[in-house]
Amino acid sequence: MNLHPQDFRFFADLLKRESGLSLTADKTYLLESRLQPVVNRHALDGIAGLAHRLRGGGTALLLRDVVEAMATCETSFFRDMTPFDTLRDKVIPALAAARGREKYLRIWSAACASGQEPYSIAMLLKNHPLLQGWRFEIEASDISEDILNVARAGSYSQFEIQRGLPAALLVRHFTKDGERYVVKPDIKAHVRFLRRNLLAGTYGLGVFDFIFCRNVMIYFDAADKRRVLQSLQGALRRDGALFLGGAETVMGLSDHFRPMPGGAGAYILAEA
Ligand SMILES: C[S@@+](CC[C@H](N)C(=O)[O-])C[C@H]1O[C@@H](n2cnc3c(N)ncnc32)[C@H](O)[C@@H]1O
Repeated sequence: MNLHPQDFRFFADLLKRESGLSLTADKTYLLESRLQPVVNRHALDGIAGLAHRLRGGGTALLLRDVVEAMATCETSFFRDMTPFDTLRDKVIPALAAARGREKYLRIWSAACASGQEPYSIAMLLKNHPLLQGWRFEIEASDISEDILNVARAGSYSQFEIQRGLPAALLVRHFTKDGERYVVKPDIKAHVRFLRRNLLAGTYGLGVFDFIFCRNVMIYFDAADKRRVLQSLQGALRRDGALFLGGAETVMGLSDHFRPMPGGAGAYILAEA
């Protein structure tokens, strides 16, 4: 495959605009290998043909397929563990004290991929000794409808389960379905999946006690990171917490957040 530089630029601009994905020229191979299945599915004449079709307007479905094909949906249960330790040991005790009257928490897992993140949060909250008898709701969003359908099914392979899920939680919260493991309805009931582009802001989502927005802004350029942090700030309750990925930070991007003391990867509002 030999992608014409003009076509590379076209896709790079389109993806930046549609999903925030910031592609540098060294990612030509990635672009080609991810878009080839889209070319095949729509029976187009190569990647140049795909670019041609999109330049001519294309269809919403074709555009969606391109955006989804380029999304990196890598995830795992209790990914990196540290944020979940911070959640269990610092954030939940503080929120349990502050929300003792309502006994209710609202959570956002932004860019939830195949669901391991929101389900990990749900299991952690369900088993937390300070939250017994509490209600909690997790909004789990992603730009990719395909990956959201995987998340909604909540059905995982042995390999996916082995990546981070403790045996005790597997026994308690999953049922076996042939070779796969399915999240039980009582955990699923806490999670609502919805398609949402982080670049579109948080209008209509309301406010949250804590937000996980992990391992997605790493693909954005600085301007889009600023924009997203700005909107996350507006969606977080004053004493809430924001969790970012291990390679992500607010430094140089937002003055509204500061690192949570002793909480690696977690941020609180600067004025809190
Ligand atoms: C690497 S996964 C991260 C999953 C999970 N948060 C974690 O840390 O394991 C990144 C996810 O971000 C989603 N994504 C990419 N761009 C997005 C955007 N503009 N808005 C919402 N989700 C996006 C992708 O579809 C993908 O599922």
